[in-house]
Amino acid sequence: MLAVIFLATILGIQAHPFDELHQHVDDHVEDYVEALRQWVAVESDSSDVTKRADLHRMMDMTAEKLKGLGGEVEMVDIGFQELPDGTTIPLPKVVTAQIGKDSTKHTICVYGHVDVQPAKKEDGWATDPYNLTDINGNLYGRGASDNKAPVLAWIHAVEAYQALNLDLPVNVKFVIEGMEETGSNGLDTMIVAKRDTFFSNVDYIIISDCGWLSRRPALTYGTRGNCYFFAEVEGPKQDLHSGVYGGTVIEPMTDLIGILDSLISPSGNILVPGIREAVAPFSDEEWRMYQDIEFDMEAFKSKIGIDQLMYNNKVDLLAHRWRHPTVSIHGIEGAFSASGSKTVIPAKVTGKFSIRQVPDMDPAMVKKQVTEYLHSVFAKRKSPNKLKVTMIIGAKPWLADTKHALYEAGKAAVKRVFQMEPDLIREGGTIPIARTFQDVTGKSIIMLPIGGFDDGLHSQNEKMSRYNYIEGTKLFISYLHEVAEIKK
Ligand SMILES: *[C@@H]1O[C@H](CO)[C@@H](O)[C@H](O)[C@H]1NC(C)=O
Ligand SMILES: [Zn+2]
Repeated sequence: MLAVIFLATILGIQAHPFDELHQHVDDHVEDYVEALRQWVAVESDSSDVTKRADLHRMMDMTAEKLKGLGGEVEMVDIGFQELPDGTTIPLPKVVTAQIGKDSTKHTICVYGHVDVQPAKKEDGWATDPYNLTDINGNLYGRGASDNKAPVLAWIHAVEAYQALNLDLPVNVKFVIEGMEETGSNGLDTMIVAKRDTFFSNVDYIIISDCGWLSRRPALTYGTRGNCYFFAEVEGPKQDLHSGVYGGTVIEPMTDLIGILDSLISPSGNILVPGIREAVAPFSDEEWRMYQDIEFDMEAFKSKIGIDQLMYNNKVDLLAHRWRHPTVSIHGIEGAFSASGSKTVIPAKVTGKFSIRQVPDMDPAMVKKQVTEYLHSVFAKRKSPNKLKVTMIIGAKPWLADTKHALYEAGKAAVKRVFQMEPDLIREGGTIPIARTFQDVTGKSIIMLPIGGFDDGLHSQNEKMSRYNYIEGTKLFISYLHEVAEIKK
């Protein structure tokens, strides 16, 4: 033992002071919880324009907190948001920060957001959503897990190094926005504008805006994109009464239901030609990776309250959740949907559906495939009604290489803090910013979540457990060290 220490000393190798750093974190748990309480207390709901003042205040608080790290903090004006009535209001500024400028070190950039989804006590919350409440070690509050605690955990991780007068292993930049929950309005433009300045010396981008799949920590290496379609069928110039006109007209709703039914089979096969063929093949290695993932099918079923899933084995289920496309039909605008029994024949109806995107699908191609297919199905009906198909959103999927050094660093950090291997997982949802960062900056990205699998993002009783928050802070501390070890 002594010999080892002696050898390490002459070689100039110093053990990384994880114990001191972790102890520092454990000594400051209540401060961290208090910081989260203050952030959760701000109703930074980006979808509600009447809350815009709170959102601006949230960005100010974020900038203040980052200034505490002693770096260069900037509040970037990203312009205005146009409201449906044609008026405009200022978008919340994007907060950027830079801590450390040592060109011999790697520079990472942490992305996060401090806006939240709407929440009201009446929606079914057990507690006031904007008053952080600790119940059995779970900290309940809107935005606790998505994404305020993870952003704070990154700040606290940097702070811990500074508090102990330890050299920060990498330069750290932050990009914190306030419009994520409503589509990151203005952020893409800002990333493009700062590609050759703020982002030019960034080596890696880290996103901690998702969660684990189980109690086992996870690294996320993919997200699905989404193509969202409107299919409008228009017939008579006004709504009709089925008693007077039923049987005389070809009804737009019947046409619409017919074409929507042609999108996907009851067993989940997408019927639009070309889509299944575009999906990257499921390799044996991938199959084995899925096999290793910790996932409780029964818990999944009981969470959503059903007895039978589309697939009855873990691998197929997760694969269809993450790495296969699917069609979901969301609604029909113009249809009668109130209670009661109105005998209307709607004159114009718009079906809304989306197709989750995976590699190697291309949204532009999907748009063409879906539009042509629906028109061909519609043509067979020989209907006099008019069909119009439009694609409203075309978000690409994102996929990282799990063999990349960033992921190896993630595995090492998880192992150090949790003494286990992480699950390598994907998200079924869309985090468009990952793809934008990748396409615009060309940098490698990792998603390093600390949220729990049962945090209730976007729903009632969202929470962040103390365990995930605090151990997550330690994970980020270790990760800073592991990234520094990557060969330049
Ligand atoms: C938050 O909840 C606690 C416990 O119910 C209560 O004592 C406190 O006054 C509340 N704070 C605010 C700001 O409403
Ligand atoms: Zn989020």
